[in-house]
Amino acid sequence: MDYKLHIAQKLKIEGVSSDEIYQALSLPPNSEMGDYALPCFKFAKVLRMSPVVIAEKLAASFETDETVSNVSSINGYVNFKVNKTSLAAGVIGKILDEGEKYGSSDIGAGKTICIDYSSVNIAKPFHIGHLSTTVIGGSLYKIFKFLGYNVVGINHLGDYGTQFGKLIAAYKHWGDKDEVQKGGIHAINDLYVRFNNEADAEMEKEAREYFRLIECGDKEANELFDWFKQLTLDYVKTIYEKLDITFDSYAGERFYTDKMQPVIEELQDKGLLTESEGAKIVDLEKYGMPPCLILRSDGASLYATRDLAAAVYRKKTYDFYKCLYVVAYQQNLHFKQVFKVLELMGKEWAKDLVHVAYGMVSLEDGAMSTRKGKVVWLEDVISKCVEKAYQIINEKNETLENKKEIADIVGVGAVIFGALYNSKIKDIVFSYDKVLSFEGETSVYVQYTCARANSVLIKSGSEWIFPEGYTPNALESEVIKVLETFPATVSAAADKYEPSYIARYAVDLAQKFNKFYIDCKILTAEGDSKNFRLALTAATLRTLKNALKLLGIGVPEKM
Ligand code: ARG
Repeated sequence: MDYKLHIAQKLKIEGVSSDEIYQALSLPPNSEMGDYALPCFKFAKVLRMSPVVIAEKLAASFETDETVSNVSSINGYVNFKVNKTSLAAGVIGKILDEGEKYGSSDIGAGKTICIDYSSVNIAKPFHIGHLSTTVIGGSLYKIFKFLGYNVVGINHLGDYGTQFGKLIAAYKHWGDKDEVQKGGIHAINDLYVRFNNEADAEMEKEAREYFRLIECGDKEANELFDWFKQLTLDYVKTIYEKLDITFDSYAGERFYTDKMQPVIEELQDKGLLTESEGAKIVDLEKYGMPPCLILRSDGASLYATRDLAAAVYRKKTYDFYKCLYVVAYQQNLHFKQVFKVLELMGKEWAKDLVHVAYGMVSLEDGAMSTRKGKVVWLEDVISKCVEKAYQIINEKNETLENKKEIADIVGVGAVIFGALYNSKIKDIVFSYDKVLSFEGETSVYVQYTCARANSVLIKSGSEWIFPEGYTPNALESEVIKVLETFPATVSAAADKYEPSYIARYAVDLAQKFNKFYIDCKILTAEGDSKNFRLALTAATLRTLKNALKLLGIGVPEKM
């Protein structure tokens, strides 16, 4: 049972919903005071009473019961003590009962969420800048599925633009079929970079011609384009596999070629399209934004035009409840414009489009800079992390079996966790040492805690039976209280589009468990204590695994 919910529903405060009360209930810093606390400061205005008086009144009128054994008030806080015995039995029972499903719900049943994420650019490097969109989107995908939503993962490929003309021109001049086939995306990228460095006016002209040929369906140009696209996709899919990322659709920008015209006509019909220096725009001055460019003066469509068509298509195809765009904050204005234009078109569902913006990732050793041609490929970051993980594991425990497999899980997990631990909007500096630390706030620490728990359970050998009526000590209760909040943490992560909530939760739970583990003997305890501690260990391991799984991170049996 959800103890917070139970308390929130029993508390009646005029003009305040039980949901608001639920949100306000917090864990007091010192558990001597209580297990939950309600600060009454924010109700002072509605109730026109001092927080101290409110807290006193609430405490006096609250009837204790099976679950809440004691209520008191102090300095504007109401403190609740729950019945530890029933809390422990309830929480652990639920976790062991539900297993992999603990934390899930069916709140999303019947609703579809589209998530546009990773959205790589064809024939361009898949670099560290794509890390956040890929893992934040990938985690949101798992979180919403866990909550019962139907989720559509969309890779809105950047496969449209004049650069493909350049690429074909470069290939025609310098390319070699076998080399490109073998070198894949790296070879393509080299050709592209070479074009940008060396192309003369003649080659630029050729590039424009090739682009035109792609556009008008020329067979050879399109075959080359499809080949480059395939090579890019083959490559990125190997990385998606490592990161446990999946997509349901790879409909990229090019997919919308024939879907833009109806949107443009609709804009025209609704009187939203105006001309400006030969271009067609939607004027957004009234809304404090620069105009949204729809067609260039040469008639070419733009990134925004394709996003408008894509949103309309997604609504028609998936009838989404929400459509998320996991894209860097640099594109804030772009999405504000696109969403506004759709609203002006009268699409009432424009309110369901959400730009899930995130900050920049740079590497500790020299920021990544595409302009200087110093691109850091994501693949290299992952390999380096796996390699370093191997070294560390080897140093710690040379005789460990399957060190390679374990290093894979640990190294990849560290890359993902490094990008998910902080609130997504923050810029982050990626440091190998930091993400691979056994001590810090890392996936390695959480995985190590799992391995520790696992080893205790294996060593215990026999089956344990949960001791009904057992009253946990303070350290045990601390673990239980964190265990209890997992479902609420998952829904909060979904509400705020913040996988970081789950990452932080995992660290918090691991820390509380380790405190318990260090101070309370498990295997050498006796009777009920031993049984209870083993059950608590199993419940913690299960919950940590569920949490990491939602982030796309695995757990080795041993470390
Ligand atoms: N390919 C784009 C980029 O790398 C991101 C696309 C995001 N999705 C979208 N529907 N605009 O910047």
